Amino acid sequence: MQRALLLLVAVASALSHCSMWHPSTFDCDRASINSAGNSQPLQDLPFSQWWWHNNLDCPPAAGQVFNLPANGQAVVELSTNKAFTSKANGGHKGMIQPNTPVPWTNDWTNIHAPARGDVAGCAFAISYKSDPRQVKPEDFVIFSVVHDCVARQNQTFNIPNLPACPNGKCMCSWFWIHKSIGGSDQMYMTPFVCNVTNVRSNAKAVDVAHAQAPRKCYDPTTCTMGPRNPMYWKNERREIHRETVTDERTANMPEDGHRAPTYSILYGWKEGAQKDIFVNTNPNNYTARAAPTEKKCTNSTVNPKAYGSRISSDKPATFLVDGGDAIISPNCRYVAYLQRDTGNLIVKNLTDQQVLWYGGVKQRGPRPLTLKLLADGQVNTYDSNGTVQWSTPMTQGLGKGPYHLDIINGGQLVLTDATQQHRWENFFFDDRENQFLSTSADPAVWRRRP
Ligand SMILES: *[C@@H]1O[C@H](CO)[C@@H](O)[C@H](O)[C@H]1NC(C)=O
Ligand SMILES: *[C@@H]1O[C@H](CO)[C@@H](O)[C@H](O)[C@H]1NC(C)=O
Ligand SMILES: *[C@@H]1O[C@H](CO)[C@@H](O)[C@H](O)[C@H]1NC(C)=O
Ligand SMILES: *[C@@H]1O[C@H](CO)[C@@H](O)[C@H](O)[C@H]1NC(C)=O
Ligand SMILES: *[C@@H]1O[C@H](CO)[C@@H](O)[C@H](O)[C@H]1NC(C)=O
Ligand SMILES: *[C@@H]1O[C@H](CO)[C@@H](O)[C@H](O)[C@H]1NC(C)=O
Repeated sequence: MQRALLLLVAVASALSHCSMWHPSTFDCDRASINSAGNSQPLQDLPFSQWWWHNNLDCPPAAGQVFNLPANGQAVVELSTNKAFTSKANGGHKGMIQPNTPVPWTNDWTNIHAPARGDVAGCAFAISYKSDPRQVKPEDFVIFSVVHDCVARQNQTFNIPNLPACPNGKCMCSWFWIHKSIGGSDQMYMTPFVCNVTNVRSNAKAVDVAHAQAPRKCYDPTTCTMGPRNPMYWKNERREIHRETVTDERTANMPEDGHRAPTYSILYGWKEGAQKDIFVNTNPNNYTARAAPTEKKCTNSTVNPKAYGSRISSDKPATFLVDGGDAIISPNCRYVAYLQRDTGNLIVKNLTDQQVLWYGGVKQRGPRPLTLKLLADGQVNTYDSNGTVQWSTPMTQGLGKGPYHLDIINGGQLVLTDATQQHRWENFFFDDRENQFLSTSADPAVWRRRP
């Protein structure tokens, strides 16, 4: 009796932690009829434990593949527990509410997402390799996104014009990151064997060689990023003298805790099939072109010293020293400088004197502090001992030099590379991007910055 009760409790929640379930998945807990193995979140794990959900040794049975019909749709079953999937996917209770768009109206409240908009989107990635052990994190390209996932158990994904897989199979993975508001920072990854069917003769290769790490972009006109890797976040961390270090080789998202990156339009992910991931549709050609000319605030009341708005990696004379220099936005409304007392890099609104964001130093090093933009895309604040006290996160080697850092008319610092792609923007402490969201919880289009 007690055992039966426990079993009931164990399979009670259909959507809390989550995974896709299919015989094509890698799954070391396949034998369990009430498995929640693949739905376990991944956080703060070393690479060997989060990669492939630590299931590399447990491939699906021979011949088990998940078919992706090119230019068509694929349906997947999502659940915390395998029990609540259909028989075909190993379940024995079936989906509870396969098509409900609002699971929040019933008991399924534990998906770390207090509101529908907090589920924040899930995605499919593909690697054109048929040997799972050859797949590296940068081999996966996201090819389909559902912004309001996970909101229903029976989830349809739109498939773009994918080409055929080598040897009749590719490696795919389901990814999900919910917003941080639910109280935990984690990601989900469920790898599976897939195959592209209904291949058209005009299908071109996925431009995996140019796949980039996703980045948040406040202005949708800059969110034309082409093929991108999954968002690897919150893992591969090691503690060194109480300082948490992210290993940039495998984690690719720089977001701090409680600021989860999401498969939403905030990160440039369009709803549905990602059509710009192919060698013939990638909007980026990665050729360097001249940066637009630096514009300056010409109001001498605001800018008596005629400061510019830009720091450039190839102009060694452009750097900031604390307590003196500044860069001012062309519209004269925003300033960025190193604060004399703290050494923090401050972005301030000159209209109401609000600090919109700051990059805080690790410790108070000896003055003067200087801010420099290096040739490799790293922006560093150094104390006079030469110790780095603040850095842009994960911008080193992202894109091509020379780089420039501007304070723009919207009140943000923007790091741009020689291909004129944005590589970093500071966020706003007030999370104002939420105000750009339309009334829909999961807007298909990110509203343009006013
Ligand atoms: C799941 O979705 C597919 C595609 O919309 C549909 O054909 C199927 O009937 C759905 N299954 C259930 C159990 O609702
Ligand atoms: C994969 O799909 C191709 C068609 O693109 C087909 O020829 C091949 O048999 C499929 N392989 C498997 C294992 O189903
Ligand atoms: C690359 O794209 C830019 C912007 O669309 C364009 O101006 C440039 O001519 C292109 N360069 C090449 C080599 O295609
Ligand atoms: C210059 O800035 C001052 C202070 O903000 C403002 O009062 C003045 O109107 C500005 N002048 C012009 C020409 O915009
Ligand atoms: C600066 O460097 C010197 C020499 O390494 C060291 O003795 C000193 O403690 C450092 N000062 C600070 C404030 O870190
Ligand atoms: C700067 O302050 C003014 C006045 O409070 C406000 O209208 C404007 O939106 C602020 N700008 C930013 C980027 O927050």
